[in-house]
Amino acid sequence: MKRILVTGATGNIGAEVVHYLCQLAESAEIIAAVRKIDKAQKRFSQYSKLVYRRFDFGNQDSFQGAFNEIDILFLLRPPHIADVEKYFKPLLLAAKTSGIEKIVFLSVQGAEKSKVIPHNKIERLIKSLGFAHIFVRPSYFMQNLSTTLLPEIHTSQTITLPSGKAKFNWVHVGNIGEAAAVLLLSFDTYQNQAYEITGTENKSFEEVTSLMSEIIGSPFYFKSINPISFYFRKRKEGLQSDFALVMTMLHFLPRLQDEPEISTNYTMLTGKNPTSLREFIESEKNAFLP
Ligand SMILES: NC(=O)c1ccc[n+]([C@@H]2O[C@H](COP(=O)([O-])OP(=O)(O)OC[C@H]3O[C@@H](n4cnc5c(N)ncnc54)[C@H](OP(=O)(O)O)[C@@H]3O)[C@@H](O)[C@H]2O)c1
Repeated sequence: MKRILVTGATGNIGAEVVHYLCQLAESAEIIAAVRKIDKAQKRFSQYSKLVYRRFDFGNQDSFQGAFNEIDILFLLRPPHIADVEKYFKPLLLAAKTSGIEKIVFLSVQGAEKSKVIPHNKIERLIKSLGFAHIFVRPSYFMQNLSTTLLPEIHTSQTITLPSGKAKFNWVHVGNIGEAAAVLLLSFDTYQNQAYEITGTENKSFEEVTSLMSEIIGSPFYFKSINPISFYFRKRKEGLQSDFALVMTMLHFLPRLQDEPEISTNYTMLTGKNPTSLREFIESEKNAFLP
C-alpha cells in the first residue's frame, strides 16, 4: 500500500490535504506528521484510518522515524521557518537517506521569479537532490482574512497593510488542499511540474473590504501604510523578524508586479469551479463581526 506522509497536517493547508486524502484515497495509507500526536488525534477524530507519527522541523532526531517506509512526502514550510540551509537541507537529506523518492511541496505563486524567497530555495534544493517532485504554487489565501488579519478586523473593522492598490488573487485553502490531494494520489501523471492553484478573482484590499461591508452589512476599512512602518508595527506586535519581513514583502511586492495570473489548474484537477470570495465571506460572516 502506498504511504503518504503529510507535514504541517494541523495547519490551514495540511488539514485540508488530510481531509481530501482521507476522502479520496482508496488504497493509500495517510500519515500525519505532527509535533503533538494527542492534540492531532483529537482534531482528526473523524478519520479513523489516519495514522500519526511524531515529527518536528526543529528536531533532526525526529526525521528518521517519521520518514521510514514513506512513498510520497507532502512538504510545507511553516510560516515562521525561513532558514532553508538550517532546516530544509538536513530534512531533505534525511528523506533521501530514508528512501523517499517523491515530494509534493507547497510553494507559492511566482516562486520561480524570486531567488531570495525560501520557497524558491526549497524548490531548487528538491530538484538538485534528484527527487521526483510536484510544486503546488497557490495564490493569496482567502483564509488570511479569518486568521492572520482577523485580530485587527475584530478590534477596528480595519485591515492595515503595505499593499496600496495592488491586486491579489484570492484562493480558498480548501481548493488548494483538494488539488494537492489529487496531485498526491496521481503523482506519476503530474510529476516534475509546477501547478499554480488560484481562484478566479484578482482584487485589491480596498475592493475586498467593500465586498465584506456589502455582504456583512457593517463597514470594514482598508488602510495602506508604508512597508517600513508596517514591518516595525509587526515587530512591536511580537512577530519574529523573519516572519515580519516575509509578511511585509508578501503584501508590498505585488505593488511592483503585474497582476497575478489566473490559472485553470484547480478545475483541470478536480472538475470543479474554485470557491468565490463572496461564498467565502458569506460562510465566515460571523467570524468577522466584533
Ligand atoms: N498565506 C498565504 O496567502 C500563502 C499563499 C501562498 C503560499 N503560502 C505558504 O503556505 C505555507 C503556510 O501554510 P499554512 O497556512 O497551512 O501554515 P499554518 O496554518 O501556519 O500551519 C503550519 C503547520 O506547520 C506545523 N508546524 C509548525 N512548526 C512546526 C515544527 N517545528 N515541527 C512540525 N510541525 C510544525 C504546525 O503545527 P502545530 O499545530 O504543531 O503548530 C501547522 O500544522 C507557507 O509556506 C506560506 O508561505 C501562504
